[in-house]
Parts: sequence; structure tokens; C-alpha cells
Amino acid sequence: MSEPVIAGRKSIKLDLAAGTYSWCRCGRSATQPFCDGSHKDTDLAPVDFEITEPRRVSLCLCKLTQTPPFCDHTHRTLPPDEPTADALVGDGPA
Ligand code: FES
Repeated sequence: MSEPVIAGRKSIKLDLAAGTYSWCRCGRSATQPFCDGSHKDTDLAPVDFEITEPRRVSLCLCKLTQTPPFCDHTHRTLPPDEPTADALVGDGPA
């Protein structure tokens, strides 16, 4: 079974318009926090979610949340030397 890559050590806050989105579960996408198809060589799949009205969301980048795609602050439990994906963001609240 494939393991997700830690794409960032913090959540990312975004103002999203109403619509359907595809959150990257594998951590390999270059367009975090959204899927770009990079999961194709893994057995992980993106998580589709719907926003019914414009709102600010806090999306998980560590890929360990228990409430995907939303941050549950699991990133706070990461060891400081845990490797992360090269191409990433991670610009949100601690
Ligand atoms: S690129 Fe990560 S789930 Fe699609």
C-alpha cells in the first residue's frame, strides 16, 4: 500500500468559490492542495469535495488528517525531521 508524502507541515487556508474540488491525498501533486494526477503510480486516490457557498477553508497538506480534506491539526504531531515533498507550500496557520 502506498504511503502519502507530506506535502507541507501546515495547513493551507484558501477562499474557495462554490464548486467541486479534488484534494490531493497522495502528497505528490505539484498543484497542492489539489490533485494533478500524480497519484497514478500509487494506490491512493484524490478526495472530491464540494463547497456549496464561497468560504474560507483550511486544507490539509501533511496528508495525515482524519477529516480529509480539512485540517485537523495532525501536522502538529509530526517529528521535526520528517521528510516532506520538495515542491511545496505550507503557508497557513500552525
Ligand atoms: S496527485 Fe495526489 S491524489 Fe492526485
